Amino acid sequence: MLSFSAQYLEQLIADCQVLEADGFGPKVLESADQLVIYKLFRRKRWFSSALFNPYAKRFVANATKLKSRGFRTIEVREIRYCKQLAYHMVVYERLPGQSLRDRLKSQISAVDREQVFVYLGKMMARLHAGGVYFRSLHLGNLLWCDDGDLPLIDIADMRFYRRTLSTSLRQRNFRPLLKRMDDHTLISFDDWNLAVESYLEEVDLSVKEVQGLKPQLLALAERLRTG
Ligand SMILES: Nc1ncnc2c1ncn2[C@@H]1O[C@H](COP(=O)(O)OP(=O)(O)OP(=O)(O)O)[C@@H](O)[C@H]1O
Ligand SMILES: [Mg+2]
Repeated sequence: MLSFSAQYLEQLIADCQVLEADGFGPKVLESADQLVIYKLFRRKRWFSSALFNPYAKRFVANATKLKSRGFRTIEVREIRYCKQLAYHMVVYERLPGQSLRDRLKSQISAVDREQVFVYLGKMMARLHAGGVYFRSLHLGNLLWCDDGDLPLIDIADMRFYRRTLSTSLRQRNFRPLLKRMDDHTLISFDDWNLAVESYLEEVDLSVKEVQGLKPQLLALAERLRTG
């Protein structure tokens, strides 16, 4: 693995635009020409599974697995490690387009908004049929694309199954979409309904399984109805 120094990082931060930061500093940087993303990974706890299998390595491995299963995602250029700071850094190409969250926040027509939820439902059905459980599946981690093949970013945390997902995992995978309270202002109950309908139209499940799953998926968003 390539290495980098604390000085290199300092210079990189000065040269780039910071897309995301937390209490420890910048997390996601974008090059001045907007072509490259630098994502930093720090181990949050001293002792965690990341000690043996760093998130940066999982991120890179997941990009390869996703592509082999036919999903659009990040093109990794390199992975680096800074011994001094104990940080990993993954360098990848910036994909065109904005996240679904940014698209929903922008001034788009009602028809375009509906399309976001229809594509989201279809994309989730494809992931689940492909045995992909994307733990961070939310509006900020899928990019909009007009053809509906929504690219996945922020892919460090996922599980790959040999078979299509069980109905309980499917139901659980809808939850992160509603985890952030500020996303509730972007998703109405009707939008959720639309995504669920689109998902269920696309899924590879029996009629009985669909009938069992539908009320569970709608119940998850019950609080959207009351606001
Ligand atoms: N390959 C990419 N192409 C385009 N935009 C990207 C790409 N990678 C990241 N971004 C942009 O950077 C933002 C943050 O990236 P990412 O989701 O990977 O970071 P994060 O640290 O998980 O942030 P958060 O925890 O707030 O979701 C994304 O919402 C997106 O706008
Ligand atoms: Mg993210």
